[in-house]
Amino acid sequence: MSTSPAAQRKVAVVGGATSGLGAASARALAEAGHDLLLWSRDQARLDATAADLAGTGVTVRTVAADAADPGAAAVVAEAAVEAYGRVDVLVLNAGGPPVARADEVTAEGLRAAFQLLAVTPVDLANRLLPAMRERGWGRVVSIMSSGVREPIDTLAYSNAGRAALAAWMKTLSRTIAGDGVTVNGVLPGRIATPRVASLDEAAAKRTGKPVEDVSRDSAASIPAGRYGRPEELAAVVAFLASDAASYVTGTTIACDGGSLRSLP
Ligand SMILES: NC(=O)c1ccc[n+]([C@@H]2O[C@H](COP(=O)([O-])OP(=O)(O)OC[C@H]3O[C@@H](n4cnc5c(N)ncnc54)[C@H](OP(=O)(O)O)[C@@H]3O)[C@@H](O)[C@H]2O)c1
Repeated sequence: MSTSPAAQRKVAVVGGATSGLGAASARALAEAGHDLLLWSRDQARLDATAADLAGTGVTVRTVAADAADPGAAAVVAEAAVEAYGRVDVLVLNAGGPPVARADEVTAEGLRAAFQLLAVTPVDLANRLLPAMRERGWGRVVSIMSSGVREPIDTLAYSNAGRAALAAWMKTLSRTIAGDGVTVNGVLPGRIATPRVASLDEAAAKRTGKPVEDVSRDSAASIPAGRYGRPEELAAVVAFLASDAASYVTGTTIACDGGSLRSLP
């Protein structure tokens, strides 16, 4: 694999980078030649992920922070600027909120979900965007959910928190488009990750069905007939982070094997 010299490499900050969609996005960006600042909660898993990426030839730094903590954005932004002095690509991602139907949502739960899904991402972007705008080049890519377009009955916290972030991102994209900074989201449908496995387990518990049946029926309901692979979503993230996507902003791209029925 060829990488550009360190001096010319772009720097990407990737959240939720030790598993699933974040880990696959980190790998895709490394393979595209980006130096990385990876973050999630568990430092041991971050160290293992960084070791996994050693063969890509890019620099990988890590910092532990919890997106549910109001202090997380400051910790991550400071670590990135200290490590590299600049950030070109910001991939907003962390773990999902708990499963809940809309009539199970509480005020306290909603506050926690908004911190995780909307406040921390906005806070982090706010800290890194001014320098991108000054340099005239930047990419913000948020890993969200197909629930932004078609709310999912059992994921009421996710639907609400991500819709808030999507509305802010759309507004932001129009405000900063003239500065060469794009802002877009990727909407996973069902991509085979530990998170989706745990959602299938929760559904099995709720319905009393074996988890294999839940996963099989769920895959059969997808027009593509299968769950996606993390690298399939990561390819969309890498595209939106690239020079090639310079005129794509304020939009969301579903990566869902055709599941969404609505027009974009
Ligand atoms: N996979 C899908 O099909 C799908 C569909 C719709 C939406 N999504 C959303 O996409 C995101 C990524 O999902 P995934 O499937 O890749 O999940 P995953 O495999 O469970 O990975 C989640 C990652 O986020 C980190 N993380 C979890 N909670 C965190 C927190 N509070 N602060 C910082 N980092 C945190 C985890 O590491 P630590 O535990 O070490 O912190 C891990 O690196 C989630 O928000 C999920 O809800 C996924």
